[in-house]
Amino acid sequence: MLNNKARIAVLVSGGGTNLQALIDAEKSGIIKSGKIVLVISSKADAYALTRAKNAGIDVAVVARKECKDTKEFESKITDKLGEYGIDLIILAGFMSVLSAEFVKRYPERIINVHPSLIPSFCGDGFYGLRVHEAALEYGVKVSGATVHFVNEVTDGGKIIAQKAVEVKDGDTPEKLQKRIMEEAEWVLLPRAAELISKSIKEQK
Ligand code: GAR
Repeated sequence: MLNNKARIAVLVSGGGTNLQALIDAEKSGIIKSGKIVLVISSKADAYALTRAKNAGIDVAVVARKECKDTKEFESKITDKLGEYGIDLIILAGFMSVLSAEFVKRYPERIINVHPSLIPSFCGDGFYGLRVHEAALEYGVKVSGATVHFVNEVTDGGKIIAQKAVEVKDGDTPEKLQKRIMEEAEWVLLPRAAELISKSIKEQK
């Protein structure tokens, strides 16, 4: 049955390589219990929007900087999610922290990919390349990625999956970011999306 698949919205802000991994996983059948029906970007010029359009997925831009406050930003997002009957929200490089009020409306229905082994290098201020800069500065020999449920604590929700990735001599933040994406994020996120979609589908 096609129509009881979990309806997925992916929220993005940038390049969208994790979005691409999700799109590819749906095509290859790794994600079979869910369907990506909407991509929302907080930035009008995010390349992720092009990836979505190329895959024939509807897009919406809710530009953070054009909203007067968090309330307006989140109410625009909520409207779009409602319009598309979204069951599962995937944060894939979404660079705005969602308020407690927002996340409480979707308990265990929002997942996020974070580029470190939580609880290391996470929380407010740790996003994108900054995470890898902090890991290299600390001198850890292993980093990785985490997929977790989103709750009112930044990067504090229940962990769904983690994968360790080796830090190598001579790593730059960019090199480490690329290795963690390739070896961990692009593998874990689609798997987690299928896992949660399956349980949503069974409840529908
Ligand atoms: C990814 O590494 C993702 O884990 C990270 O931003 C990058 C987005 O890349 N997210 C965070 O740091 C969230 N705290 P992408 O746009 O190519 O998927």
